[in-house]
Amino acid sequence: MSRSAAFDLLPGSDKNDVPAGIVQLNRSISRALRRQRGDFQYYDEPAGDPSLRQQIALRAAKRGWQAEIDELCITSGCQQSLFLALMAVCQQGDVVAVEAPGFYGVLQLLEQLGLQVVEIPASAETGLDVGAFEQTLQRWDIKACVVSPSFATPTGASMPLHARVHLIELAERHDLAIIEDDIYGESGWLVVPDTLKAVDHPNRVIHCSSLSKVLSRDLRLGWISGGRWHDDIVRLKLTSQLASSRFIQRGVADFFADGGYAAYLRRYRQQLQRQRDQLLDLLGTWPVPIRATSPAGGLALWLELPEHVDTIKLYNRALEEGVVITPGELFSMSGKFSNCLRLSFAHPWTRARAEALMRLPGLMA
Ligand SMILES: Cc1ncc(COP(=O)(O)O)c(C=O)c1O
Repeated sequence: MSRSAAFDLLPGSDKNDVPAGIVQLNRSISRALRRQRGDFQYYDEPAGDPSLRQQIALRAAKRGWQAEIDELCITSGCQQSLFLALMAVCQQGDVVAVEAPGFYGVLQLLEQLGLQVVEIPASAETGLDVGAFEQTLQRWDIKACVVSPSFATPTGASMPLHARVHLIELAERHDLAIIEDDIYGESGWLVVPDTLKAVDHPNRVIHCSSLSKVLSRDLRLGWISGGRWHDDIVRLKLTSQLASSRFIQRGVADFFADGGYAAYLRRYRQQLQRQRDQLLDLLGTWPVPIRATSPAGGLALWLELPEHVDTIKLYNRALEEGVVITPGELFSMSGKFSNCLRLSFAHPWTRARAEALMRLPGLMA
């Protein structure tokens, strides 16, 4: 199966339920659109609307990072941010380290850009194995390392502070860029971890994020803070996109400024925690031995099934039954994790969802 086919939407989809926070967001955007006068004839500045960057900087400050607005550039999502980061730092043929298992969208980008990949093992609880990364640096001339320190997909792992500090030291010693994918950072319901930028004294972290996972995938709104590569990144955004839509940025900035986002996020985090618990409770009734992560943030958990289960085959069988899962092999280039699965708890719990999940063990033979 191709990586682009990967998504995990089980039956019982909830496309018609619109949370109150999203209704409020839509109103903010409509108001911003109504306020627009001559803007439609002009491009916004390439780095994006200052009022939105100001709001993003205020949220960054709550996570240990005093960002200035001219250190931030608005993008059309985290995927574009990751793309700009890799373009700014790497030339074709360069070697990039990624965590394994890790986000398949990064693997697609590396393939597209003609970059070589070195996979670094990542623990399901504490994320990137920085000791293993240090050893890999003895053998490979690595240009950049892409990492999700907070609630990584697919496991939901978060790196402890000492590992983050060690990673930054290695970046400085070996002259690397660390590309931080923080898309799940604000989803945490027990703690919201600091960004990696909070300990980035040598300014070697390129921070990438978006609102796709905590607010709306359809906004296509993200940001990047490029550290010492920031000017090149803004130039790349200019040449590839010119500018972002001004009224959407202003509508989102207003939603942040009037407290709508913070209130929405409080409710959403509680909902995610509930849905994670519902999923774990159901997995506890499966008649097969499994190991599941229990993350305190993110939208998914990682499931290790008995060795003999091939989750690509399981994917195909489940698809015939109308159930879509994400097989583990997608999260690595090296054919590992064939008995693993990522299961999402992003969607509200429904009976159809529970029934679909209960059918999976019967398809594992
Ligand atoms: C870890 C991770 N990074 C980046 C992205 C891309 O996000 P966006 O929709 O903001 O482009 C995703 C989307 O699935 C993701 O899971």
